[in-house]
Amino acid sequence: MRPKLALFDAYGTLLDVGSATARLVQSGTFPALHEKGQIVSELWRTKQLQYTWLRSMMGAYVPFWQCTCDALDFALAQTGLDGDDALRSALLSLYRVISSYDDGARILTALTAYQIPRAILSNGNQDMLDEAISAAGLDAHLDAVLSVEDVGIYKPSPEVYQLACTRFDVKAEEVLFFSSNGWDIAGAAHFGYQTIWVNRQDQTAEVLAKGPDHIVANLDEAWDIAERLLANSA
Ligand code: LAC
Repeated sequence: MRPKLALFDAYGTLLDVGSATARLVQSGTFPALHEKGQIVSELWRTKQLQYTWLRSMMGAYVPFWQCTCDALDFALAQTGLDGDDALRSALLSLYRVISSYDDGARILTALTAYQIPRAILSNGNQDMLDEAISAAGLDAHLDAVLSVEDVGIYKPSPEVYQLACTRFDVKAEEVLFFSSNGWDIAGAAHFGYQTIWVNRQDQTAEVLAKGPDHIVANLDEAWDIAERLLANSA
């Protein structure tokens, strides 16, 4: 079926979640971060996601920014870097204006040829998303930035994926969803979206209810598939 909405995950897909820590390591401002940067970055992301799932199950939603701060506190404690307030606040400031991947702007621009709406659906709360997307210069390419904040539960809850269908008045199978997060793709596929897993980190496929329709390494490759689906008028 020809997609009627191009829908993108934000963190990991359009925005590079490792870039905040990497940029601070590169700046050389905090020598203690030099050898622990990679592990801090990985723990930070892993815990951030775990906290979203745990809080969803506990019925204890807090905005994604709070999960991000809490996860960083865990990562710094685990690596013995807690107690350095300047380091903590430098990492959080960089996360607000996290770097974007260049292929994001390219596919968003290319999609204009097909005149379907382009939107983000993210765990991020609205103000952190707006700040990051505007810093990355992606706002001009998007028709909407949808946040789980509106339903108070995180991906992969079906309530989240329903948000895009309601907002754009489309059926699940009319949504073409792009995410680098395999578990997010599984949730979206289970909901009924058409899915393209942008497997940027060459990760092993999740063994969950339903696999992705397509697997690519980046959004340039995703465009080749999207263009084929959009050219199909059926
Ligand atoms: C998001 C998470 C999955 O942007 O990174 O929704």
